[in-house]
Amino acid sequence: MGRVFIKTFGCQANKSDSERILGDYLSRGFTETQDWKTADEIVINSCSVRRSAEDRVRGFILNIEKHFAGSKKPKIILTGCMLFRNEAEIREFLPGIDEVLPINEVGFNQAAIRKDKVHAWVPISSGCNSFCTYCIVPYSRGREISRPAEEIISEVTDLATSGYKSITLLGQNVNSFGLEKEGIGLRKLYMESHLDPQELPSNQTQYKKPTTTPPFVTLLQKISQIKGIEKISFFTSNPWDFYDELIEEIATNPKIDRFIHLPVQSGSDRILKKMNRGYTRQSYLNLITKIKTKIPEAVFGTDIIVGFPGETDEDFQDTLDLVKEVGFKVGFVARYSPRPGTISSKLYPDDVTPAVKKKRWEILDKIINKDNLSVRPLVP
Ligand code: SAH
Ligand code: SF4
Ligand code: F3S
Repeated sequence: MGRVFIKTFGCQANKSDSERILGDYLSRGFTETQDWKTADEIVINSCSVRRSAEDRVRGFILNIEKHFAGSKKPKIILTGCMLFRNEAEIREFLPGIDEVLPINEVGFNQAAIRKDKVHAWVPISSGCNSFCTYCIVPYSRGREISRPAEEIISEVTDLATSGYKSITLLGQNVNSFGLEKEGIGLRKLYMESHLDPQELPSNQTQYKKPTTTPPFVTLLQKISQIKGIEKISFFTSNPWDFYDELIEEIATNPKIDRFIHLPVQSGSDRILKKMNRGYTRQSYLNLITKIKTKIPEAVFGTDIIVGFPGETDEDFQDTLDLVKEVGFKVGFVARYSPRPGTISSKLYPDDVTPAVKKKRWEILDKIINKDNLSVRPLVP
């Protein structure tokens, strides 16, 4: 059949999808090559979370073109999160690609082929309903859909049988696992009418709080009972539905990782509101305190955006103060990048200069990731 090379950009969700794309190719008789120069087909699983991510995809394609100039080049297939753009636009930005294919058409229904034999990424949901104003994910990945719990449990059971000891459950908002059908209609309507986020209902109202044990907690309990699984991690959690039951479960279940990734994005109430994050600086800090009280050994990681439209020195100072107060061990700091079609790109000019974004990025990255001697890598 031929040799395939899969190039993955972006987050763990994409890396996990690529494991399934590889499974599909191998089931069709392809072999995998580690060197794109020897491939017959190159699949690019793209990311569009920031302009720089899209530029990296373009850079990779230009490299391929340059290498094969004048000779027969491999077939290049583009899939993943850049496909929210229309095909003409993609082809203009990325001349040289042969096909633009949604991931299900690339083939993605076979079991994942994992390189790591001890730790596995296991998706529990895809997409996102939260519509943070800056974020492309709800557009690039569509609505939030949870996998059936039985399917996840059966996958983890198979993994345990094959010798896996540690798993990380993956989703844009794992805590809302199984709850996505509650109450999204209203929110989507608001977003599509492009009201100012000041008038929006808060993010906390989008998922109805479960009246019984949240499905994510039940899932954790069931997975903990699978023989052979020693450690369970999950990400990403978001502050608006980190329920007490979840805190209790972590506190009392020794298999669950004490590292909690809890993106804050900003420490300024004004900016959080414009981002439509649905919590305040104080409610975030209250949650951290609650978790620290119940789980004294908890360690926190976060994501932060610097240079969101209108971010002043005072707003940035609020973020710095919050970061010091929480004492994050790991932080992904990103410079704001307006994404086409998102609410923030329509409502607010990208008015923080690149130089100021860079300066703020350096300060935060140093405080969180460099001054910190006990950095724990996100990938276990
Ligand atoms: N679901 C996760 C992660 C989403 S994307 C969450 O809610 O936190 C990963 C990170 O990219 C985000 O947490 C955010 O910090 C960053 N990001 C998303 N859109 C961005 C944009 N337009 N500009 C800069 N950073 C962005
Ligand atoms: Fe969803 Fe917000 Fe995370 Fe983007 S940043 S994936 S919109 S929760
Ligand atoms: Fe992930 Fe990038 Fe898509 S961060 S969800 S691969 S836009």
